[in-house]
Amino acid sequence: MFPRDLYEIIHLIGIALTMAALGATALHALEGGTRRGPRARRVLVALYGGGLFLILLGGFGMLARLGIARAGVVAFPGWLWAKLAVWALLGAVMLLPYRRPTWGMPMLLLAPLLIGLATYFALYKPI
Ligand code: HEM
Repeated sequence: MFPRDLYEIIHLIGIALTMAALGATALHALEGGTRRGPRARRVLVALYGGGLFLILLGGFGMLARLGIARAGVVAFPGWLWAKLAVWALLGAVMLLPYRRPTWGMPMLLLAPLLIGLATYFALYKPI
């Protein structure tokens, strides 16, 4: 059984991977790259998917160690639903750069704010 802090490390590696792939994709699209672009694109999608998965793995691992939501989804606190919503939004923005290349830059500013928001919910649990 892994300790809580190891799950947090997995959680943070997931966040870093997701942001790295998002940044590279946004830059590629801003430079005129397309979905049918370089082989690297497939690597970026894999890194992105892997990052999102590690966020979930680390998150649910910490959840288990904290003994939160033992009663299942119905017992999920508000702050956790908010984090899941941020996670889903982060998953969705990956598609944007190739659909709207001009959104690449605003997205590069939005994504870190989403990270900050999810961290706020983890630290302050306001709902
Ligand atoms: C973009 C998405 C997310 C980001 C940026 C994020 C960020 C963070 C950060 C930075 C922490 C550490 C806070 C601390 O030091 O105590 C944390 C804790 C946590 N996160 Fe996430 N998180 C995200 C998504 C999720 C998701 C989807 C889950 C659901 C399984 C989750 C569950 C947790 C839990 C259970 C903790 C521990 C809270 C505690 O110790 O009280 N997170 N998150």
